[in-house]
Amino acid sequence: MSVKITDTTLRDAHQSLIATRMRTRDMLDVASKLDKVGFYSLEMWGGATFDAQIRFLNEDPWERLREIRKRCPNTRMQMLLRGQNLVGYRHYADDVVDEFVRLSVKNGMDIFRIFDALNDIRNMRSSIEAVKKYKSHAQGTICYTTSPVHTNEKFADLALELANMGCDSICIKDMAGLIPPKDAYELVALIKKKVNIPVDLHTHCTSGMGPVSCYAAVQAGCDIIDTAFSAFSWGTSQPSTEGMVASFKGTEYDTGLDLKLLDEISKDFNKIRETYEPLFNPTVTVPDVAVLLHQIPGGMISNLVSQLKTQGALDKLQTVLEEVPRVRAELGYPPLVTPSSQVVGTQAVLNVLYGERYKQVTKETKNYVLGLYGAIPNKMDPAVVKLIIGDEKPIDCRPADLLKPELGKAKEVLTKENLIKQEEDIMTYAMYPEVALKFLKGEIKEEVIQPKEAPVAKASAPVSYGGPAAFTVDVDGDTFTVKVSPLGEMTAEPAAAKVTYDDAKTIKTPMNGMVLSVAVKEGDKIEEGTLVATIEAMKMASEILSDRAGTVTHVLIKAGDMVDSKQAIVVVE
Ligand code: CO
Repeated sequence: MSVKITDTTLRDAHQSLIATRMRTRDMLDVASKLDKVGFYSLEMWGGATFDAQIRFLNEDPWERLREIRKRCPNTRMQMLLRGQNLVGYRHYADDVVDEFVRLSVKNGMDIFRIFDALNDIRNMRSSIEAVKKYKSHAQGTICYTTSPVHTNEKFADLALELANMGCDSICIKDMAGLIPPKDAYELVALIKKKVNIPVDLHTHCTSGMGPVSCYAAVQAGCDIIDTAFSAFSWGTSQPSTEGMVASFKGTEYDTGLDLKLLDEISKDFNKIRETYEPLFNPTVTVPDVAVLLHQIPGGMISNLVSQLKTQGALDKLQTVLEEVPRVRAELGYPPLVTPSSQVVGTQAVLNVLYGERYKQVTKETKNYVLGLYGAIPNKMDPAVVKLIIGDEKPIDCRPADLLKPELGKAKEVLTKENLIKQEEDIMTYAMYPEVALKFLKGEIKEEVIQPKEAPVAKASAPVSYGGPAAFTVDVDGDTFTVKVSPLGEMTAEPAAAKVTYDDAKTIKTPMNGMVLSVAVKEGDKIEEGTLVATIEAMKMASEILSDRAGTVTHVLIKAGDMVDSKQAIVVVE
């Protein structure tokens, strides 16, 4: 049986290695050649591409889809869809899910790989139904992870459930590169026994096992494997397309793909890679077996590195990587993938930066524990739950059941602003309200790729690096003001006005970030534990609580300010 190849160079590969920064123009240069290869599909949309395009690249995601589709009439277009989260970081109402899928199909999408970070099928049902409604291919996804509570049998049962829901194929999504060849073989064989639809293995080379696991999976009957062109493969990305195709040559699994053509495209991607060379971090380009311990997915490692860098705490990377599995166990062993990876990763960072565990908790961690992301795979540590939500009661329904329709309001806002040039714009706005407004108004500038050796300005405000910008907000989207500055143009002005005060009487921020809101004003009497301000850092909202009682005499920040770690924000007498 000939094995099929899904090429991920245009989506996961650059998301894993360079924070999703590949430009559409570079993709279009090779698209027609990619169409000639005979890939099963091109994964080219979804995940973080949507967000990165409107936030950093000043590109319309829908345009990218249409343009690549146009150049690839013979190849299936594939996207990654985060279940009820679509291409965002929160649950959207069912009407948004339906409309998003409708427009994606209209613009040329063929295959939807649908997953839920917690493997909670209640969060996948709505999008699977929509994909079936619009007569496209629904690929039901198992988020693979290892823990004392996850087994191959349970994963295979999940595959059966997904098949029974009408999925056309199954994907084993091993986002952190954790699956050893032996388990890949066993899991595929188990699933193939239970379902008779195609199975795809999606893995990463993070630990170095990726190519071997792909080969083993194929030997067990795996129909499709995911690979990326060499220039954007290995490390935290997929196994290489050329290498895997060559591996199967002359065997019963021979892909039948033309190595000469692959080599030609490979050289094109090598050339494209030169543009992005400064964005490649050596930490993510070589295999690291430690991933088997910390289980942080590819994209998340590059984000963690970048977050710690902006906090001036890159030296704490090792400690954070050690903290991650502890936090994960305490939070019930979620698979580490967006958004649970951010919840666990950011909480681990905060636990380390604060020097006291769970002293600082993000809103997202709270919501996770409250069940607002979905059912948690295993029992959480009751002591930690108490620290995070106190006496609040978690929900037990499907989270999206709590949401009212959202489309009408989105359309209303954009109509009022006179910003609808295509119906897809409403969806862009529904996904990322604040950034979308700026994008649709033409206020986003394409980020400049800084040469690696360029001196980075030392300033009192955080400076953005080649990695993901850390000071953008889109946690709840419509709640916060977003400041997006193109790389290198972030001006470094001190956030606080000039006032004299006794430093010992100030409350300080623990991290760099942007002030979302200030909760106190001068003259307020506050207690220990009173909310002082909310800071957005590492894509999460963190509440700064007062560590003492007293009267606020000075407020040194305002919403929108950039603050440094250990910067005084209020004075309490
Ligand atoms: Co992946």
